[in-house]
Amino acid sequence: MKFHKTLVERLFNKNYQLIDGTDEIFELDLALWEYKVLSKKELIDRSAYFKIVDGIETMHYKICNLQNLEEVHKKSSFRTKNFFLNGKYSTGYATHGLFPYRGKFHPQLIRALLNILEIKQGQTVLDPMAGSSTLAVEANLLGIDAISIDISPFCELIGQVKTFALDLDIKTLEKIGANSNKLLEKLKKDIVPQYFINNKDDKKKRYYEIVLLAYLDTVGFSERSESSVEKLFSRVLERYIATIKYFQIARQKVGLKIGNSEILQGNILDLPIKDSSVDIIITSPPYSFAIDYLKNDKPQLEYLGANIDKLHQEMIGLQGRGVEDKLDIYFNKMNQALAEMKRVAKNESPIIIIIGTNDIQTKGVRLEKKIIELSRQHGLKFELNLKKPILGLQNTMKEESILFFTNQK
Ligand SMILES: C[S@@+](CC[C@H](N)C(=O)[O-])C[C@H]1O[C@@H](n2cnc3c(N)ncnc32)[C@H](O)[C@@H]1O
Repeated sequence: MKFHKTLVERLFNKNYQLIDGTDEIFELDLALWEYKVLSKKELIDRSAYFKIVDGIETMHYKICNLQNLEEVHKKSSFRTKNFFLNGKYSTGYATHGLFPYRGKFHPQLIRALLNILEIKQGQTVLDPMAGSSTLAVEANLLGIDAISIDISPFCELIGQVKTFALDLDIKTLEKIGANSNKLLEKLKKDIVPQYFINNKDDKKKRYYEIVLLAYLDTVGFSERSESSVEKLFSRVLERYIATIKYFQIARQKVGLKIGNSEILQGNILDLPIKDSSVDIIITSPPYSFAIDYLKNDKPQLEYLGANIDKLHQEMIGLQGRGVEDKLDIYFNKMNQALAEMKRVAKNESPIIIIIGTNDIQTKGVRLEKKIIELSRQHGLKFELNLKKPILGLQNTMKEESILFFTNQK
């Protein structure tokens, strides 16, 4: 028998190695794309899927290893600890693990997309349905500026925390977080204490937002685990502070320059952004009515004093009765959303939409097909549908589509 070379060996030079766990076809596809468009230096500095480039460890690999996740999760449950350790290079690095937002992007995938789209410093990326601001965090890690918009004020808070925590003074945070009992007493009062929301210009507010997010995370965690908020809060806050601390240590060691983010609450149907001002859009809308983001985050939204009825009217995917009516309203809103994305993106700029279909719920209507059709009507040039399997949800949704378009004005 002739010696058999694995696919990875055939795709890349033998002095290159991929990060452990890079084994899905779409990941190999993106790794090959990174390999083709990035210079050797760029592969070392910013690639998503490489561990070794010409004998040198990449920045992504180094930072993930420097984050000391064992220490961060020393008090976490076996399940949580395993989840983060298994996702060390893919979902759990930097500040991505601070809140487990449902339906969030795979951060490593976003990093690869920014790379293959050849994003440059000085350019701006936008996610107009940003959820937990995964795109903003990834862009900022590459030194790129980002705008994140979501209809939910809770998402605004998550985005503020995840991006601010990339570059802060850890001593100030540790000082504020030192007295978790006192903080908890204030947070348990029905309305958010003044210093958690006021003083727009006060930099301290950002530090308190981290505590607030840890509290709101604890509220959800407590419901799921049937353990009390009192018992869990200090542990969650400790984990938040440790995550941020070890990321700060890692990024300072390797000298990472962090980009800026603008995190806003707003509606994709009426974006507070100038015409032709954005270089790249990457977004993922609700997959019709597969996840009810309002119901999911209701305790947190109520705590923050959000107008639930208004959100119910404005959140895409929540209106209508019966499948047909719901899909009608959904596509109508998505059609307007596409027009807004086209308006704010520069001519010839890439627009990427990640979407999956739950066939059973939609009675066979494929969301990605309809989005491609609507985009064509807006004159967006459809380039590619890269398919990504969804692990763990095989019965309801088997894959997502990463749809690549080019804006044409
Ligand atoms: C699939 S999630 C996005 C997750 C995100 N990619 C991440 O990494 O966390 C879809 C998001 O769309 C938001 N959304 C729904 N309707 C919206 C609207 N009219 N304008 C802006 N955002 C909206 C939801 O609040 C939800 O956070």
